[in-house]
Amino acid sequence: MTSKLTSQFLLDPKLTYLNHGSFGACPKSVIENLGKWQMRMEKDPVQLLDADISPLLANSRNALGNFVGCEGDDLVYYPNPTHAVNAVARSLKLKLDDEVLSTNHIYGALDFTWKQVCKDTKAKFIKAELPPPIKSKDEFLNKFFSYVSARTRVIFISHITSMTAMIFPVEEIIQFARERDILAIIDGAHVPGHLPLNITALDPDIYTGACHKWMCAPKGTSFLYVKKSLQNDIMPPVISWGWEMELPDKSPFLNKHEWQGTRDMTPFLVVPEAIKFLNDNNWQERGKLNRALVVSKRNQFLELLNSRPICPDDWLGQMATIELPIDDPLQFKQSLLEKYNIQIPVFTWGNITVLRYSMHFYNKEEDLNRLIGAVKELLD
Ligand SMILES: Cc1ncc(COP(=O)(O)O)c(C=O)c1O
Repeated sequence: MTSKLTSQFLLDPKLTYLNHGSFGACPKSVIENLGKWQMRMEKDPVQLLDADISPLLANSRNALGNFVGCEGDDLVYYPNPTHAVNAVARSLKLKLDDEVLSTNHIYGALDFTWKQVCKDTKAKFIKAELPPPIKSKDEFLNKFFSYVSARTRVIFISHITSMTAMIFPVEEIIQFARERDILAIIDGAHVPGHLPLNITALDPDIYTGACHKWMCAPKGTSFLYVKKSLQNDIMPPVISWGWEMELPDKSPFLNKHEWQGTRDMTPFLVVPEAIKFLNDNNWQERGKLNRALVVSKRNQFLELLNSRPICPDDWLGQMATIELPIDDPLQFKQSLLEKYNIQIPVFTWGNITVLRYSMHFYNKEEDLNRLIGAVKELLD
């Protein structure tokens, strides 16, 4: 089963690819489907981009809504989560001394976004310091909530963190925010196709996710979900046709964000094919097997390095971040690639140097065995 699955991807067979978390690989069927849409567009661009695009996008949004547990009309496609969060952050009209609360685990590009937006509006950007090791949910939440003040207007938090690969307890955080009238904006870039997701049940104000990561959709497919009551407050970063010329069968939210002239929409049309691939290959079962491997190999790593886990086992999904006793992460990453053909991120986070491995459909246990062997050799 494993090798059949691996052969459905286009990855170079000589490469051990352990970085799905940064840039996910696409199955052949998904890339072929993208090609079909592009051929259809080029046969008659007016027909696809003008006459047909609106119902096609609605169909794709509905399929995605069904997958992530919300109405298709409550989400719009964006190229990536950073675009989506920029649209939101710039729409909020933050005021002097309003506080935006996030954590030191925030994704780097979005750290820059909030820092700049808060500077422009004279709001305060506060990052709760939640250093590893994280020992328990209660301890984590108490510490995080201790940063909330009467001026907190926004909580912006990752559902699965980028650098530290932890699943954060966003259910409790959203509930806490709701009870205090604080806007809960969730960065779920890593969640769709990684964890079962039901946005309606979670009930955040705003949620963004990437389809081109764990859902294996083509690069440049992500989404922004906005609760109905807030949709008129969130503006697209680009004012285009949908600003004034509204298609009557669509809400102002959909018109303003979706109708963007000659922007290439074909990657968005491939999302139903990506969902079919996930379902045909039992993504949830496969994810559980990968998760078990991620946890057991973390134990092996920790023993080898005589190191500590940065979070409990049940905070891990299909990625794990391990502390490494090295000084030069770039050189270590290059050695893994050049000597062992292993593609994996190695970087500094706060005051620790770490490596993060990801496991998806095409990975096998031997990939992680090879990684552990290579790390051991390089450290020796
Ligand atoms: C937690 C998190 N948020 C957001 C993103 C958004 O990525 P991009 O830079 O493509 O917008 C990523 C990408 O890895 C991420 O890990």
